[in-house]
Amino acid sequence: MRVLELFSGLGGWRCALRNLGRVVAAYDVSEPANATYALNHGDRPKSREIANVPLAELASHGAETWLMSPPCQPFCRMGNHQGLDDPRSRAFRHLMDLFREAPPDYLVLENVIGFLGSDAHTLLTERIRAHGMHQLDLQACPSRFGLPNQRPRVFIVTSRKPLHPRPMPELPPRPLVDFLDAEEDQALYLQPETLARYHYGMDFVEPRDQRSTCFIGGYGRRFVGSGSFLRTERGVRRFSPTEVARLLGLPDGFSFPEALSLEVRYRLLGNGLSIPVAAWALDHL
Ligand SMILES: C[S@@+](CC[C@H](N)C(=O)[O-])C[C@H]1O[C@@H](n2cnc3c(N)ncnc32)[C@H](O)[C@@H]1O
Repeated sequence: MRVLELFSGLGGWRCALRNLGRVVAAYDVSEPANATYALNHGDRPKSREIANVPLAELASHGAETWLMSPPCQPFCRMGNHQGLDDPRSRAFRHLMDLFREAPPDYLVLENVIGFLGSDAHTLLTERIRAHGMHQLDLQACPSRFGLPNQRPRVFIVTSRKPLHPRPMPELPPRPLVDFLDAEEDQALYLQPETLARYHYGMDFVEPRDQRSTCFIGGYGRRFVGSGSFLRTERGVRRFSPTEVARLLGLPDGFSFPEALSLEVRYRLLGNGLSIPVAAWALDHL
């Protein structure tokens, strides 16, 4: 497969692709995301607003596959539910215009569960049907893939060839301790005042637990509803960015440019893909 990785972020789709194909071009407007992508994958994504990329440019890459994770805020449980009317959906709407003109042979889109039944889902389904293509709407969570993390997501898998659902793994989640750094960063520990203020709404886990909640982009700033916090003998701490990366299934050695703050690292990870789940979705093609 020759792949266009759209809204490429940290390059989660590139990791999930394995030897199924090759990313011939990636696009993302975020400089920190592109710097992290370049550090880990070698190639630097095109730093472009996707809504302004013309069909001729996309076609010039000769890719028959589009893999994409458009912004999920318009479809999030805690978002504004504006769907296609949200300005952050402009690039997705543009891609749907391009799809109408010249659809790829394969497309896989990842998003939050709220995407299902949204106006964006309806638009994509209309485009797929208009070209007589096949579609599978999959839902999966990494907690079924051996990872102690909840991150339920939808994958819309589209192909010119018929598609068949594949069995979903039922691997028991490993304990969190398997994902922890060998050396703790003491700066991750929370101050007693912070705990006293927020502990009623926070989610606490221990190293032997086999679960954690979804880490969102605001994990570096927020304490409630942003991800789990680890209780150790020393106190309560955040998971480090490398620990969150492991919980997403990113490869060992995944790293960030040194200049990126902790908050930005968490924001990039909060946007990220769970790699084994995305790989399973790709195996449907
Ligand atoms: C949900 S994240 C995708 C994460 C990615 N799948 C990964 O593995 O990290 C969405 C990404 O789209 C980028 N983005 C959002 N709107 C964009 C636009 N209009 N043009 C280009 N990139 C955009 C953001 O910077 C962000 O990195």
